[in-house]
Amino acid sequence: MTNPDYKALEDNLGLTLYPKRDAVMVRGRGALLYDEHDNEYIDCAAGIGVANVGHCHPEVVAAIQQQAADLMVVPNTLYNDKRSLLLEKLVKVSPDSIKRAYLCNSGTEAVEAALKFARVSTGRTEYVTAMRGFHGRTMGAVSATFTKKYRDPFAPLVPGFNYVPLNKIDKLDAAVTEKTAAVMLELVQGEGGVNIADREYINGVRRICDERGALLIIDEIQTGFCRTGRFFACEHYHLQPDMITVAKSIAAGIPMGATLLGDRIKVEPGMHGTTFGGNPIASAAALATLDVMENEKLAERAIETGDYLQLRLEAKAMSQVRSVRRLGLMIGLELKVKSQPVLEELMRRKVIALPAGATVLRLLPPLVIDKQQIDVVVDHLHELLA
Ligand SMILES: Cc1ncc(COP(=O)(O)O)c(C=O)c1O
Repeated sequence: MTNPDYKALEDNLGLTLYPKRDAVMVRGRGALLYDEHDNEYIDCAAGIGVANVGHCHPEVVAAIQQQAADLMVVPNTLYNDKRSLLLEKLVKVSPDSIKRAYLCNSGTEAVEAALKFARVSTGRTEYVTAMRGFHGRTMGAVSATFTKKYRDPFAPLVPGFNYVPLNKIDKLDAAVTEKTAAVMLELVQGEGGVNIADREYINGVRRICDERGALLIIDEIQTGFCRTGRFFACEHYHLQPDMITVAKSIAAGIPMGATLLGDRIKVEPGMHGTTFGGNPIASAAALATLDVMENEKLAERAIETGDYLQLRLEAKAMSQVRSVRRLGLMIGLELKVKSQPVLEELMRRKVIALPAGATVLRLLPPLVIDKQQIDVVVDHLHELLA
């Protein structure tokens, strides 16, 4: 029996918002994906930074199965065992400044909540964010996002956003005023090209926010949960933010986001909320995912595997690579050529990688990827970029 034409169904009945790759994925294990014909792919995209613990980790699968059998929904007006334990765990693994968490369903929702909480907590209305930053697609998050192609079609947007270049402290100094509710930054810009914030710059940002009474929101939606070699990228900077937004890998693929909150965040009952936020299945999945991250020491593993990958990359002369930017297993290869044809050829060779702008090839593999799989990826990169 032949399969239905899944591609035609998606192309004709879904909205054509996403540039599609030519494969129908049906199964995943660890760092591997399998298509409908059982072809095996090495996955260096991980669902765009979601499958940090690997695809279908057995402990996460078991937690989801058990929770589905016990309880699938409970409103936020009732208490829930898994939700409460997840809140405890999230605060425990977060920087000391984080005291509470608001649970939601995606990254953009976590950002949206942070923007709203910043306004009500400060009584101010303006924000400063970074050029080449990316924060999501809802109206507030897209207003915070610099790239015009994401923003312009949807104008008029939320007013009051100022964009500054990353790592230029004088520009930020000039932009933050007594009207600024919050500065929001990624410590490593993911979609914008794997651009890493300098330590000195981030120290300066924290100081300027404190001097002017502005809150500091760090968007760890892509960098969080061991991706950069620490539980949170903030730890590389010894940074204590007022809010941290997380999502993506928090529940290994079950939709979830969270806004992690410091003491200065004050909201009144009824001001904000969401039906599915902290639902039992997502909470159980997140609890199991965070346990796997701790038990399997995935932050350390991200450093070790990232170091290995970098050594392997450096051992091969790749004339088409301008530079490699990396923190843990968040990797950007700045190419001298466009990344898209290279990504397409990698796909033909059964390696899935990502773009980050026109000339950056981004690798966000599951943190459980092994050295043999890395060797295969580097060999293909070498053949394509030598
Ligand atoms: C840094 C960052 N913030 C926010 C988002 C938006 O998250 P979501 O797609 O879950 O809404 C993303 C998604 O790529 C992201 O990388």
